[in-house]
Amino acid sequence: MVLQALVLAFWLFIPAYVANPGAVLFGGGTPVDFGRKWVDGRRLLGDGKTWRGLFGGALTGVLVGSVQSPSSVLWTGDPFSLASFVDFMGPVAALSFGALLGDVLGSFLKRRLGMNKGTRAPILDQYDFVLGALILTGVAFPGWVAEHYIVGEGFYGLVLILALTPILHRIVNVIGYRIGRKEVPW
Ligand code: CTP
Ligand code: MG
Repeated sequence: MVLQALVLAFWLFIPAYVANPGAVLFGGGTPVDFGRKWVDGRRLLGDGKTWRGLFGGALTGVLVGSVQSPSSVLWTGDPFSLASFVDFMGPVAALSFGALLGDVLGSFLKRRLGMNKGTRAPILDQYDFVLGALILTGVAFPGWVAEHYIVGEGFYGLVLILALTPILHRIVNVIGYRIGRKEVPW
C-alpha cells in the first residue's frame, strides 16, 4: 500500500531529521576545521560547523532512533530482540552521521562559492543533509535504501522526503532563530 510506504519512509527518516536540530542545540566550541583556511583564503567550513554539533547532532539521531527501534515489529512481524535492535540501528546511525556529514559538505561548498557563514543558499541549505544521509546509508545499507526510498513504492517515500524537507527545514529553523540558537531563520 502506498500510504503505508509513505508513513514508513517518513518514520524511518526521523533520525536524519532530528540530527540537524540536535547539532544546533548542542553545537559550539571548537570548529571542525580548527579555524583553518582553504587555498582560496576562505575558511574550510567556518565557525558554524563544530565538533560538538557534529557528534551531539549525530548522537541525537541515534538516541531518537533507539527509542523508535521497537516499532520494527510492526512491519517485520518478528519479536523485538537484540538482533532486530541491531538491524534497526545500523541504518539509523548511518542516517544520523550522514545527515551531519552532508551538512558539513554543504558548508564546504558554500565557503568555496564565497558565501560567508549564515548566507542563504537555497536548495543546498535544505537538501545537503538529505543527500548526505541517503548517500552514506546507501553505501552502508544499499538494500535498505533501495527498499524504502528507491524501488517500487519506496520511490514515493523519496518523493515524500523531498517534498516535506523544505517545509520542516523552515519550521525548525524559525524555531531555532526564535529561541536564539540560530543567527538567521534559514
Ligand atoms: N552547528 C554546529 N555544528 C554543526 C552544525 C551546526 O555547531 N556541525 C550549530 C552552529 O552553532 C551553527 C548552527 O548550528 O551556527 C546552525 O547550523 P547551520 O545552519 O548548518 O550553520 P550556519 O551557521 O548557517 O552556517 P553555514 O553557512 O555554514 O550553513
Ligand atoms: Mg545554514
